[in-house]
Amino acid sequence: MDSYKKLLLSNKAWVKEKLEIRPDFFSRMANEQNPEFMWIGCSDSRVPAEDITGTEPGEIFVHRNIANLVVHTDFNLLSVLQFAVEVLEVKHIIVCGHYGCGGVKHALSSKHLGLINKWLRHIKDVYRIHERELDSLKNEEEKLNRFIELNVIEQVQNLVETSIVQRSWARKKMPFIHGWVYDIKNGNINDLCLMTSESHVDKIYKFDFTDEQIKHYSEEV
Ligand code: CO
Repeated sequence: MDSYKKLLLSNKAWVKEKLEIRPDFFSRMANEQNPEFMWIGCSDSRVPAEDITGTEPGEIFVHRNIANLVVHTDFNLLSVLQFAVEVLEVKHIIVCGHYGCGGVKHALSSKHLGLINKWLRHIKDVYRIHERELDSLKNEEEKLNRFIELNVIEQVQNLVETSIVQRSWARKKMPFIHGWVYDIKNGNINDLCLMTSESHVDKIYKFDFTDEQIKHYSEEV
């Protein structure tokens, strides 16, 4: 059988199973979503946000890209972020990387890979910032694992540097921003860091908002 047909059959079985447990499973979600979490994860097929956190549809607002990056000129990510923070008013944003990440691994090499070089370049910047620590690690696996962790920490930092997060912090001290790394070898999540409205933001990245700007969302990001 064509493998894609299996997905459609599984969908039918899944609908049946959900309705058996809760007859209003779909109808209660049909009109709106009210997720508490935004997820920024890697596109890697082994790291599905809902499965590894035991959550259901409606609980996590998800954005995924190669190596879970927060790039300040990525309108896709910024749109998802703005909607999550200003409209859905999520309480938590989770950046979740994973050990064994191919994107980070390739960024560590000097291989020319075409267009994807442009994307991986952002991860190479993380290496430059933490070069001393990473160069001190002689074991290659250890170095890659730490690079993956530092990449997550830097993406959390990138979120904090957006006006979207800073304005929301000024307004209501939300959201909390978490950095996690998922271990594909054993399924565990390593809780790396947390940044809140009390956290230090480097002065060069800090925005001063007027009362008006805090009160009313403008169309500017
Ligand atoms: Co990955």
